[in-house]
Amino acid sequence: MIIAIDGPAAAGKSSAAKNLAKRLGYLYLDSGALYRAIAWKLLQEKINPESQADVEAASQLIEIDLRLKGEQTEIWVHGVDATPSLRQPEVTRVSSIISTYPGVRKKLLSIQRSIGSEGGVVMEGRDIGTVVFPEADVKFYLDATTPVRGLRRHQELEQKGIPSDLEKTTREIEERDLKDSRRHVAPLKKSEDAIVIDSTPLNLDEVIAQMVQEVEKKLETRQQGSIQKLK
Ligand code: DC
Repeated sequence: MIIAIDGPAAAGKSSAAKNLAKRLGYLYLDSGALYRAIAWKLLQEKINPESQADVEAASQLIEIDLRLKGEQTEIWVHGVDATPSLRQPEVTRVSSIISTYPGVRKKLLSIQRSIGSEGGVVMEGRDIGTVVFPEADVKFYLDATTPVRGLRRHQELEQKGIPSDLEKTTREIEERDLKDSRRHVAPLKKSEDAIVIDSTPLNLDEVIAQMVQEVEKKLETRQQGSIQKLK
């Protein structure tokens, strides 16, 4: 199966997707990390993120390589492990800008589709259920209120040793959501057939429990379908 998890920043998509993939023995892919990898390389190359033509041309040449290390997926760019730098605020800021460019999205679309081509994957992002895998077997839209998401991201950054100011982090999340949902190509929006989970009052275990229940329901329906066919 292909399981798509979309939603705004800091709604808990990564933790939920990672855990769900582990439970199912599936591959986990954080598609945002691919946008971040491009942003990281552009920063290294000192390419102006506001220049769409320069970014689109440069991004076609960027080689991204995913390497599985136990449960972790490392993102290597031109032979360098970029994973430790991908959460830096500057990378976050630039990834939000460059993800609005069609040329960048097109390049990453084919990478994402080839990763999911065999199934057995939980992929999370903004457009997985709408654009990358519109035929995904189960689609979730994970949401939470802005103050809760701001607090979660603030705590996550502090835990990683990246200095964060709660108000500023919350404001940045809000700005990024607006950019993600207003862009013309593949905007953040709920797929019509997505199951909405509001994680505001829930902890991670409760979110995962809901997801597992939905996936099991889907598996049961499928099994019943194939039994019917055999009869
Ligand atoms: O999920 P994230 O915060 O790591 O994503 C980084 C940026 O990439 C974010 O600004 C939105 C963008 N993104 C996207 O446009 N489409 C995706 N499928 C995933 C991320």
